[in-house]
Amino acid sequence: MNILVTGGAGYIGSHTCVELLAAEHNVVVIDNLSNSKKCALDRVSALAERNLSFVEGDIRNRETLNRLFAMNNFDAVIHFAGLKAVGESTEIPLEYYDNNVGGTLTLIKCMQKYGVKTLVFSSSCTVYGDPQTVPVVEDSPRSATNPYGWSKLMIERILEDFHSANSDWSVTLLRYFNPVGAHVSGQIGEDPRGIPNNLVPYIAQVAAGKLESLRIFGNDYPTPDGTGIRDYIHVVDLAEGHLAALQTHSEQPGLHTFNLGTGRGISVLEMHAAFEKACGKSIPFQFADRRPGDIAATYADCSKATKALNWVAKRTLLEMTADTWRWQQQNPDGYTD
Ligand code: NAD
Ligand code: UFG
Repeated sequence: MNILVTGGAGYIGSHTCVELLAAEHNVVVIDNLSNSKKCALDRVSALAERNLSFVEGDIRNRETLNRLFAMNNFDAVIHFAGLKAVGESTEIPLEYYDNNVGGTLTLIKCMQKYGVKTLVFSSSCTVYGDPQTVPVVEDSPRSATNPYGWSKLMIERILEDFHSANSDWSVTLLRYFNPVGAHVSGQIGEDPRGIPNNLVPYIAQVAAGKLESLRIFGNDYPTPDGTGIRDYIHVVDLAEGHLAALQTHSEQPGLHTFNLGTGRGISVLEMHAAFEKACGKSIPFQFADRRPGDIAATYADCSKATKALNWVAKRTLLEMTADTWRWQQQNPDGYTD
């Protein structure tokens, strides 16, 4: 298939491009490089031993998108492009709505104009807000607590309404839980700007000696060890989930929604211990106050994806931490070339 990947230079996009190329798909990436570097894509091509096309551009720019669609006969679009930092979204909410919601609207209108009717969208478990029960299933109640979460929920709603009026489209909403890890080669991985907000890249930088100590936000949650519980999924398993979704649904009109996680909740202390094991060092930490807006626990029921897509997350917690550590050691300052 000819596939347009928006935001393909980013963390999840780059890993998905490796899998797409390996499966013999033709890949065109559009990315404005606002949170990524072009060299990630050079490494993707080297890993897959196949080339992809790259256009540096913004999905909110209608002319750029029109040119791209006119020049390529796309079969499907995988839409990763967007802003993703929860804290930042509370400081610059309009940027988040403009980029995430506005960008998606421009993209779908262009797809409609050029008759491209298969879309896979990066949604998030953030659309479940603070779930009343875990594991969450796809029809659990939705809510949001910050502009980033609202932008994802609004896009889901827009795509649902759009699909009601255009039922010959195939629209897949993939709700990712917490992606971590890196390609096993250590060549591509997560490259956060400045001090990481998320747990695993933060631990990796403490282990590498770049940051002094991990602060564990809260040890008084109603969880077995008192720390927050999440469903961490290896980014390559997530990438494989996109291929499974494309394979299953590209020819099959409908609105398809799936949780992509492991189905297993891991606490902050368990993740810390797993990382110590992977890197063979002790990683200093101290307990701190709860982080505002954090929830106690969430993890996924992934049985729908397993049944419908014949997909399951295969990689273990040890692989998630060992692969992150390899990427961190080989790229102490992220992508620098
Ligand atoms: P990322 O920031 O690494 O990748 C996003 C890419 O999109 C970046 O390369 C960025 O430069 C590009 N981009 C942003 N706005 C753009 C625009 N207007 N036009 C063109 N390119 C643009 O993030 P990621 O972790 O790879 O996440 C990919 C998607 O998955 C995002 O939509 C994110 O919200 C969603 N998601 C991520 C997580 C997570 O924890 N990483 C969890 C759930 C959902
Ligand atoms: N945590 C710490 N110390 C840190 C960072 C995180 O203790 O320095 C804890 C948090 O309190 C939480 C857990 O580690 O209990 C995971 O936190 P992350 O920031 O790694 O992940 P979140 O679940 O808070 O959020 C992430 C993304 C969101 C996305 C969500 C679901 O940041 O954008 O996963 O995909 F919506």
